[in-house]
Amino acid sequence: MSSSVSDSGIRTFQARGGRMSKGSREGLTRLWPTYGIGLQDTPLDFGEIHDLEGVTPPSNVILEVGFGMGHATTEMAQADPNSLILAVDVHSAGISALMRMCEREGITNVRVIQADAVKVIENMIPTDSLSGFRLYFPDPWPKARHQKRRFVRPDLTELVTTRLRTGGTFHAATDWQDYADQMLEVLEATPGLKNQYDGFAPRPKWRPMTAFERRGLKRGHNISDLIFVKE
Ligand SMILES: C[S@@+](CC[C@H](N)C(=O)[O-])C[C@H]1O[C@@H](n2cnc3c(N)ncnc32)[C@H](O)[C@@H]1O
Repeated sequence: MSSSVSDSGIRTFQARGGRMSKGSREGLTRLWPTYGIGLQDTPLDFGEIHDLEGVTPPSNVILEVGFGMGHATTEMAQADPNSLILAVDVHSAGISALMRMCEREGITNVRVIQADAVKVIENMIPTDSLSGFRLYFPDPWPKARHQKRRFVRPDLTELVTTRLRTGGTFHAATDWQDYADQMLEVLEATPGLKNQYDGFAPRPKWRPMTAFERRGLKRGHNISDLIFVKE
């Protein structure tokens, strides 16, 4: 039997309990049929994902992993209406918050997948299909014994690279210096990826400030962006 990256059983996210508000639960149920895509074990046909008016098939598809509460995602979707953002996270409160923001703002170019992104990338994202992959402030797993849970590791960056089309970008950002250094090392060593910069990238003006970036800045952390291109 062939093994897959997700077979490792190492989860890159933290379990989170807590009750959701009534509004959050209501939003989750009501908006899922409009914005949600269920986990499936066959590749998506992007041509079949139209905007919500059913008019435009997406020319660019961007996968964002770990959007948190989704504020940055909505800003990027509004700034780039010709791209479809597939936004993946595991936590229901954030899923509901993102869908409710999309509804409120009339955003039609976001779709939400509630699942482990490793499984999504392996099973649902076609080879050579993405124009961008975004990983903003992933869980830093600072304790040495947890670092194997970090998302940026060779098997996963290699997997993501197979899903990017030529010229597609792998953009990561973190406020943890040792993780930034690790990202740089892993991405530099990933076959098929080329650093667009000499080392870290300047912070792109178009990348919205995220909640975890703000938290990192408050703690005095340095922010690092990394932008690589698939050759
Ligand atoms: C530290 S938060 C950052 C959220 C947001 N990007 C920001 O900058 O504010 C990391 C997020 O990534 C999600 N995450 C981590 N690993 C994931 C995975 N394998 N699949 C889906 N979501 C994941 C977590 O659930 C969490 O919401």
